[in-house]
Amino acid sequence: MQKIPVVLIRGDGIGPEIADAVVQIFDAADVPIEWIEKEAGLSCIPSCPSGLPEETIEAIRTYRVALKGPTTTPVGRGHRSVNVALRKALDLYANVRPARTLPGVPTRYPNIDLIVVRENVEDTYIGIEYFQTPDVAQGLKLISRPGSTKIVRYAFELARSLGRRRVVAVHKANIHKLTDGLFLECFREVAREYPDIEIGDLIVDNCSMQLVTRPEQFDVLVMPNLYGDIISDLCAGLVGGLGVAPGGNIGDHYAVFEAVHGSAPDIAGKGIANPTALLLSGLQLLRHLGLAMHALVIERALHRTLEEGIKTRDLGGTATTEAFTAAIIERLEIIQLPEEEQKTHPMNLGAIPLRYHRPAEVRCVGVDVFLEHPGATFPELPQQVGSLQFVALTNRGTRLSLDEPATVLLVDHYRARYQTADGSAVEDDHIVALLQQLTSSGIRWMHVEKLFELDGHRGFSTEG
Ligand code: NAI
Repeated sequence: MQKIPVVLIRGDGIGPEIADAVVQIFDAADVPIEWIEKEAGLSCIPSCPSGLPEETIEAIRTYRVALKGPTTTPVGRGHRSVNVALRKALDLYANVRPARTLPGVPTRYPNIDLIVVRENVEDTYIGIEYFQTPDVAQGLKLISRPGSTKIVRYAFELARSLGRRRVVAVHKANIHKLTDGLFLECFREVAREYPDIEIGDLIVDNCSMQLVTRPEQFDVLVMPNLYGDIISDLCAGLVGGLGVAPGGNIGDHYAVFEAVHGSAPDIAGKGIANPTALLLSGLQLLRHLGLAMHALVIERALHRTLEEGIKTRDLGGTATTEAFTAAIIERLEIIQLPEEEQKTHPMNLGAIPLRYHRPAEVRCVGVDVFLEHPGATFPELPQQVGSLQFVALTNRGTRLSLDEPATVLLVDHYRARYQTADGSAVEDDHIVALLQQLTSSGIRWMHVEKLFELDGHRGFSTEG
């Protein structure tokens, strides 16, 4: 069988030890992979201060698939996270984390077999944050229609290819009505194209509670970035912790598989690291490549090893990394796979058809001005500037009654809303005139948000 080139990044800390274990097991199982070794993380510093050499990114662009060991991110200084940089450079928009009960690994609940599909690029992770005033920091939560469509479609395709029955969207659309509301709308639209798959949706707090009371009910879960970050670690905890939690970062063209855990500097070099999470990530990679039979052979050997009580210390055993690896290799048995088990994860979905919404009419019907005003009194604002009338003043989302003293804690960050009295469109020069008036009244404003109506539908929140 012709060998498939796959980029291998051993990483640092325990990375090289657990990567060696995976390479040995794959070799023993005759997996037809040729490793293309590249570096990232501490091992390539100081020659590459970013920790991610261009050569490594280029290799993944060429060979499309990589297995990556953990890499250390220095705290407060040094290079940024190699993982975040890779996700952005290769547009790896889907983070796929299976959580499955393993035999021999004690957990509170049996029979967990779910997959968390986390959007990997958007949400609060776009990293756009500002100090608006000395006392108030703001971060943007950005959810897009194309980005949500992509991740939801990926989740449905994954479910279908793995014979999964149900996909549940996790959100907080009761509070984040526009952002999470858009995610949910995309979920419902895409779901119509998959009538063979059951759907559901759950608010993230309820989902968390149900995950720790009845986790066996879940199949595939799809969610925006921040909820996915938290929920997927919760799910890792349900099935035995970081040592057994695999993951894949997948885009239209490239895929990087890696364990959820980090470089574990506390145990690096001691020969006691658990290679299971990276091995399971490697099995995800094999299925991604269509090598389902090799994945099953290795998975069965891993299960037998654990069942027989051969485990590393983090799982309550005494085996070293080397002994655990050797035990898995001893238990490899070539099997003939029944046809239905040969189903594989799609290699890639190619360019996913996206949804863009182009309303026939977009009208600006007002403006929110964010301004700084320290102290216990309210800012004094002009009631009318041109066609724009003052409508409301809020502080941390609470609407203030200007005739009475505040009954809430006031911070130095206010939002003043202005709209036209007759609902007519607001032009840019009306807004400029308002800002000039505020400036000349000595009011320090930080930014403005235009209030849009899209085909007559309000595109801004009226609460808060
Ligand atoms: P960590 O996941 O490296 O370690 C947390 C705890 O779990 C430690 O006690 C460690 O010994 C244990 N542990 C983790 N993996 C294990 C394994 N395979 N076998 C046995 N025990 C294991 O998290 P920590 O300490 O917060 O991060 C260390 C470094 O790793 C940091 O620089 C962090 O930025 C980086 N990191 C890298 C990731 C990646 O490359 N994918 C992901 C997460 C963190």
